[in-house]
Amino acid sequence: MRVSVIGTGYLGAVHAVGMAELGHSVIGIDVDPTKVDTLATGRAPFFEPDLDDLLAKHGESGAVRFSDAFGDAAGADVHFLCVGTPQRRDGLAADLSYVDAAVDALAPHLDRPCLVVGKSTVPVGTARRLAAQLARTAPAGTAAELAWNPEFLREGHAIADTLTPDRLVFGVDSDHAESVLREVYASALDGGTPLVVTDLPTAELVKVSANAFLATKISFINAIAEICETTGADVVKVADAIGHDPRIGRSFLDAGLGFGGGCLPKDIRAFIARAGEIGAGQSLLFLHEVDAINLRRRERVAEIAAELAGGTLIGRKVAVLGAAFKPHSDDVRDSPALNVAGRLQLQGAHVAVYDPRATDNARRIFPTLEYAPSAYEACRGAHVVLHLTEWPEFGEIDPSELATVVDQRNVVDGRNCLDADAWRAAGWTYRSLGRP
Ligand code: UDX
Repeated sequence: MRVSVIGTGYLGAVHAVGMAELGHSVIGIDVDPTKVDTLATGRAPFFEPDLDDLLAKHGESGAVRFSDAFGDAAGADVHFLCVGTPQRRDGLAADLSYVDAAVDALAPHLDRPCLVVGKSTVPVGTARRLAAQLARTAPAGTAAELAWNPEFLREGHAIADTLTPDRLVFGVDSDHAESVLREVYASALDGGTPLVVTDLPTAELVKVSANAFLATKISFINAIAEICETTGADVVKVADAIGHDPRIGRSFLDAGLGFGGGCLPKDIRAFIARAGEIGAGQSLLFLHEVDAINLRRRERVAEIAAELAGGTLIGRKVAVLGAAFKPHSDDVRDSPALNVAGRLQLQGAHVAVYDPRATDNARRIFPTLEYAPSAYEACRGAHVVLHLTEWPEFGEIDPSELATVVDQRNVVDGRNCLDADAWRAAGWTYRSLGRP
């Protein structure tokens, strides 16, 4: 099939090569010519495992092309909307200006029957509004149909999540739209991927509900971590023990510095805002608490760092290991690690940050922090070392060796995954979140 992908950020670039890998002929459209040029040379403008290889492979064969002209999308049978929906600057709600602009720019080129498929995370009710807008403004009229097919990919696992998703959701208004989407995803469906077919608002809600649930799960265990901190209990053991119950499950119960990134924080806030707009604010009041618990963890790490530094951070050197919001990504949007680094600097510390992939992005948004070329360089002369993003290489650091470069042996494990016994045995004061 001929497929266009509108928006080539973290979601769209991966979706474009994913569609090519599934055998479709793909044109990726983005308003940013620099991004288009980079993608056209077979490189991704961000780090995602295996993405460069697939871009090069399908770029060379011609299966995927990129352009900044919406007119180049005109002949496609299916148009995927993959633009961002960040938090608005003036409140909690989602900023839909990129979605609206994409539909405005695409619609005049839709002069033959086609399916426009939203993948972006949007407030419930958006799809119905866009469907009406398309029918009004596309030359094809109602033959330019709208569907919603939410995306559940995780950064760092985006290719696998796209090619072999754990479920597909088709929000459709007609049997025709369902059959077009069945054709797009034929190989995944033939491979047994579960499919849920719904109406448009249900499909929109599936996505925000999934992210709200994941955020709630993380904040739940982080609330228990707070209780563990005052009782001397061990939150990792609590998570292991309750996680054995299949009704609960162990995944997304890793207590620590909490969630960040371009999705969970803004999605729960947009969900709260939308619930308020439709008169159902009370239903999602608990999500305010989920957000607050999550943000408290950042404060807590800063408090522990100050305690270990002797009560004040003024003039102390703090090494921050990790800047990305999670490992295997260079994404620093709402990164808990960078948030803590910035906080400590404001409290007077000299902060040196090291991240294997995210340094350039981090430097762009926090230019005043020092960025070191390695974990050891970041830690040189440090009074406190903070482990804030769980890159595998940090787990391999030998605490005895690192002890030779620091000023004082204080470490805070913000992700609860260093070997506490090994660090203590090497003479470190080891602190973590929710563990004795
Ligand atoms: C998330 C959803 O998982 C994905 O389905 C959706 O499409 C987009 O949003 P992503 O933002 O890539 O994906 O990251 P995810 O793996 O969900 O992690 C989000 C944050 O939660 C990270 O900061 C991570 O460190 C944190 N996290 C995750 C925890 O603190 N504890 C956990 O147990 C799991």
